[in-house]
Amino acid sequence: MRRVEVTNATKTHVLSRSFIENLTSFVLTEEGKDFKGTLSAAFVDEEGMREVKKRFFGEDTLGDVVSFFYGEDSDRVWGEVIICVPVAEKQSREVGTPFKEELALLLVHGLLHLLGYEDSTEEERARMMERALALLARYKEEERRRMLLKRAERARTFAYAPYSRLRVGAALLANDGRIFTGCNVENASFGVTLCAERVALGKAISEGAREFLAIAIISDDESFCFPCGVCRQALAEFSLEIEILAGRRDGSYARALLRELLPSSFTLKRDE
Ligand code: THU
Repeated sequence: MRRVEVTNATKTHVLSRSFIENLTSFVLTEEGKDFKGTLSAAFVDEEGMREVKKRFFGEDTLGDVVSFFYGEDSDRVWGEVIICVPVAEKQSREVGTPFKEELALLLVHGLLHLLGYEDSTEEERARMMERALALLARYKEEERRRMLLKRAERARTFAYAPYSRLRVGAALLANDGRIFTGCNVENASFGVTLCAERVALGKAISEGAREFLAIAIISDDESFCFPCGVCRQALAEFSLEIEILAGRRDGSYARALLRELLPSSFTLKRDE
């Protein structure tokens, strides 16, 4: 586990330590870097940033983020990212992005500097910004998957599966952000059994949701749990672009689009 230490010299609530740790870990992995020491993330006010700028760059200016690299082999702090909170607030207002997102962007920008990125020319600046935004988007997508898999895992524990003893949980994400969970519900008359995915889908439809982005499925079995043919057809009624996340209890997952799992699918052309 990579480590970070966070100091916040302001009164504003900033990014949590675990968020910083996860995001840092993600960026380093994506960039193919690893450090044994600690990353220091510091949040300062305007005065603090001016002081850093004066002391280390000889400039009497403000900045949004600065970073210092202390070396690959440092087994204490290998790098430091210092973010100016009031400047981040101002920028987030100007650009219209949430404050936390601006802070995350500055953190990634600072990290990229530590990994050797430069932004002294316009071209370099654009390349760095593009990389930072792409990393953040991917991180968010990954977080969404992890969260959905977690919800499926919890739903699995409610499964009623006395016959197969295979408990399955599903979590279906609607485009409005709502998550509907389901578990398998078995019956002594075996054919009556409901799969976890269709329980989740039925709950969603009955609450007015019609558009879905992703579904996570997890079972007791060690293999990745992809939906059965009936559930593929049931989901295909609403969209073939649904992302299928077949999870395992160790946290790993496989993914596919429903379109890939159900090619040449049957639909009825109908007027909406
Ligand atoms: N099952 C699901 O809930 N979802 C699937 O995609 C595959 C199968 C359930 C149904 C039954 O209760 C048990 O797993 C064994 O087939």
